[in-house]
Order: sequence, then C-alpha cells, then structure tokens
Amino acid sequence: MAIKTILSSTLLVVFTLTCFSVDAQSKIFENPKNLKVLPEDISPKELSNTMRGFALGLGLRCTNCHVGEEGKPLSSFDFASDEKPIKEKARLMMQMMNEINQTFVPKLNQVEDEKRVAVRCVSCHRGQQKPLLIEDALNQALASGEPDAVVNKYKGLREKYYGSHTFDFSISVLPSFSDNLLKEGFDKEALELMELNQTYYPDSYYGNFVRAKALQKNQKNKAAIEAYKKALELNPRAGFINGIIEQLSKASATKK
Ligand code: HEC
Ligand code: HEC
Repeated sequence: MAIKTILSSTLLVVFTLTCFSVDAQSKIFENPKNLKVLPEDISPKELSNTMRGFALGLGLRCTNCHVGEEGKPLSSFDFASDEKPIKEKARLMMQMMNEINQTFVPKLNQVEDEKRVAVRCVSCHRGQQKPLLIEDALNQALASGEPDAVVNKYKGLREKYYGSHTFDFSISVLPSFSDNLLKEGFDKEALELMELNQTYYPDSYYGNFVRAKALQKNQKNKAAIEAYKKALELNPRAGFINGIIEQLSKASATKK
C-alpha cells in the first residue's frame, strides 16, 4: 500500500537522521583500532550494524559506552577509548553471547547452522540496560520501602514502555504478582496494585478475584463481597466463590 510505503520511508528517514546519521558518517567504522572481541577484518557496515544493535537492544546512546559529546559530530568521538567501564562489560556480554551461539545452542543438534536462531543482545535486554522483567522492577520498588513505590513504578513503566517489547503489561501479570504479595504479607501493596489493575482491566475475572482477596485481607469485607460477586459474574463456572461469599457474609454479620 502507498501509505505503508510513505510511512516506512518516512520512518527510515527519521531513523537515519536521528539515529546518528551512521551511514553518512560511515568513516568512523573504517579501520577500527581497538577491537578485542569482534573480528579485526569486520566490514564497516557490519560494525555499524553491530553497534546499532547494541544501542537499540539496550536502549542506550553511543555516548553511554563511548567517549564523546552528545550532539557533536560522531567524527569527534573517541570510539577506540576504553575509558567507560560499561564498554568492558559489553565485551564480556559479547563473549558470553558468542559462547551461547557457538558452543551451547549447536549442541541441540536440531537445525543447520544457517537456519539457527541467534541469541542477540535484544533477546535478553529488550531495549533496557539491565534485562529486568516487570516483576523484577516491582520487587525492587517494593524493597525500597517507600510509600506507593510499587504502584508508582508500575504506572511509570507502563507510561514509558506500553506497546514496546520491554515489559509485559498483559492482563494476568498484576493479579499474579499481587496474589504472591498477599502470600508474603504485603496486603496493602497488593490491594493498591489491584485497584490500579481495575482501572486497566475492569472486566478481568482473575483481576476481580485477586482484588477481592486483597480487600478481604485488608478487612474490607463489604467491598470484598462485591468484588467476589463481580468475579463470579465474569466467570460463572467458579462456583466455589459462592462458599467464600457466604462465609464472609456470616463473618461480617457476627462481627457487628
Ligand atoms: C553497550 C555499549 C555500546 C554501545 C551502546 C555502543 N557501542 Fe560501539 N563499541 C562497544 C564495544 C564493547 C566495542 C569494542 C568491541 C570489541 O572490542 O570487539 C565498540 C566498538 C566501536 C567502534 C570501533 C572503535 C575502534 O576503533 O576500535 C566504533 C566505531 C563504535 N563502537 C561505534 C559505536 C556507535 C556509532 C554507537 C552508537 C550507535 C555505538 N558504538 C554504541 C560498545 C558499545
Ligand atoms: C542471555 C541473556 C543476555 C544476553 C544475550 C545479553 N545480556 Fe547483557 N546482561 C544480562 C544480564 C542478566 C545482565 C546483568 C543484570 C544485573 O546486573 O542485574 C546484563 C548486563 C549487561 C550490561 C551491564 C549493565 C549495567 O547497568 O551494568 C551491559 C553493558 C550488557 N549487559 C550489554 C550486553 C550486550 C552489548 C549484549 C549483546 C552483545 C548483551 N548484553 C547480551 C543478560 C544478557
């Protein structure tokens, strides 16, 4: 389709202009002086693609690993310098990745070399410097002990990354995470997350069910009963919920 072509060529232009005008400055990729992992006879195009893969795969800029000033022409950068420690870490990762691709995966012995799927930086990193899952990021926020840290972390990540491959924001993630929080005694945080989840997925059975559990654990029995009813409505086959509602109703009646 014409629109598609226009769109993709526009994207290509934008990409080429914003992403370092690499091709226009391909001279920087000629005669590399300090390659310790990549083959010395690597072609400029391949070196350029590799570096682009690093930057996009980890969501970083060239200047994160290389000495140079953002906004200045790449020709003024000192790419051969090893001044930034992260560059050495990237070398370690390259060696690890080569080992995976050349030693371990071939041992599966199930496809020919040229058909094999290669592990790349992006396979693990998915556009971030450290390859966290959403659960890792939330657990880190939880460990900080700051009030509202977990909810704010989720909101912030969702705002920044929704629709990208970096984090999983799908329907069962927060209920599953919050259910675990309830088992570990983080009742308040679990409820906060499930209230947030309700704004994204109001008609999720799993979401309403875990929200009901969280409400119950937080002694909000009336609201819990309503949430259990909603869960049952969304999934009539979950008949066991009737028993929970009955018990809860009795408990709140005798409490009064
Ligand atoms: C995650 C860190 C990382 C990022 C981001 C990165 N590079 Fe590199 N770059 C490296 C490493 C590591 C080497 C050395 C590889 C080796 O030792 O085989 C290297 C080598 C180079 C070299 C060869 C330098 C020489 O003379 O030896 C050039 C040129 C280069 N990078 C350009 C770029 C450009 C342009 C970008 C942005 C698109 C970029 N790099 C992004 C890590 C990175
Ligand atoms: C098999 C999964 C995997 C692959 C493939 C992978 N990485 Fe990593 N990378 C990790 C893990 C795990 C960490 C460490 C996270 C931590 O410190 O908690 C990491 C950390 C790093 C760091 C340090 C980040 C920091 O903030 O200190 C850099 C730089 C890095 N990787 C670069 C790369 C590059 C470049 C590639 C591709 C050549 C690559 N990684 C491929 C899993 C991977």
